[in-house]
Amino acid sequence: MLPAGLWRRRIFTASGSRKHENPLGLPSNNTRSLPQIPRRGPISRGLPPKRKIPNVKRVVLVSSCKGGVGKSTIATNLAVSLSLLPQRLRVGILDLDVFGPSIPTLMGLKNVEEPDGALIPITNHSIPTMSMAYLLSSASHSSSSPSTNPDSEPPTNEDTPVVWRGLMVQKAVQQLLFQTDWSAGVSQGASSGLDILVVDLPPGTGDIPLSVGQLVDVDSTIIITTPDVLSLSDVRRGVSMFRKLEIPLTGLVINNGYFICPNCTERHYLFGGNPNDSENMFTKGVKAMGMDGDRIIGELPLVVDVGRGGEKGIPYALSGRGVGDNDPGKVWLAAMTSVAERIWGEIQFNTN
Ligand SMILES: Nc1ncnc2c1ncn2[C@@H]1O[C@H](COP(=O)(O)OP(=O)(O)O)[C@@H](O)[C@H]1O
Ligand SMILES: [Mg+2]
Repeated sequence: MLPAGLWRRRIFTASGSRKHENPLGLPSNNTRSLPQIPRRGPISRGLPPKRKIPNVKRVVLVSSCKGGVGKSTIATNLAVSLSLLPQRLRVGILDLDVFGPSIPTLMGLKNVEEPDGALIPITNHSIPTMSMAYLLSSASHSSSSPSTNPDSEPPTNEDTPVVWRGLMVQKAVQQLLFQTDWSAGVSQGASSGLDILVVDLPPGTGDIPLSVGQLVDVDSTIIITTPDVLSLSDVRRGVSMFRKLEIPLTGLVINNGYFICPNCTERHYLFGGNPNDSENMFTKGVKAMGMDGDRIIGELPLVVDVGRGGEKGIPYALSGRGVGDNDPGKVWLAAMTSVAERIWGEIQFNTN
């Protein structure tokens, strides 16, 4: 956890006269250079080579083509599940959902702020994390929009809107990507830094996922979706973008597709039936894009305690138990662990 003295320090506001060149207001003596983002031309022509993130061995992108499908919940639980594998991997999380950061809440780090201008990961549950929310002060939100309801939750830095234009956001993303010091506070034996960085991308195929795909040497990407026909075109766009960017696409994770009734212990499919049925419209759609079969790397049920764990800032992968083979929590934990094992299995031999 963060030392007590650092908890309430205000170090940054989005308003004012910050220049585009340094939207996070970092100290100017930071010598790590940033790559330039190409703004024209085809998706891969004339680009600088993709770069490694300093002090990070492997990068896993968690993407979704829609918001609200459980991407951040899965990103946090994936990071925890990877760190619990027998290999004792050092895993961190980078929250790049700059317009809707939720990693701080999910990791029990709500309202934590960075000390002056630093991009030092903040650790809880043994997982170092970095988020735009740590760089925004909740004070700037509360002073501009005071709450009239005494019962409402006080605003947090996650409520502070990022009101920057595209170029500033791009620059901020580059700084979060390449200037965060992942060697800080994570060492085991002689080595320091992370074995795996899990990146929570914003939903969709906008500027941020695109520039991450263009700039960063990525080892694996998973796309989170619900198994309904309405999601198909979103998934198709995501799959197509990652293929064009030549990024390894490990597979789809289907979230919230079913829940297990605690009374009858049966699976109830919430969207358009069982995706394992070959006649299912969603399954036919993903088959057409070559993402069926073993490209569906996990099916996670809707489990009330998974959501509650996120609200409390304790990822379910850390605290969840479950009794009995058909216990929803146990089914969820087994599926999450197998997603982590599959990703680790695919990336550990990458030598790029
Ligand atoms: N498998 C699940 N079971 C129960 N609730 C879930 C599950 N996955 C996500 N949720 C809940 O769904 C909501 C949206 O999840 P979130 O991770 O914030 O989505 P996203 O990052 O895609 O916007 C949250 O309230 C979260 O707790
Ligand atoms: Mg999210």
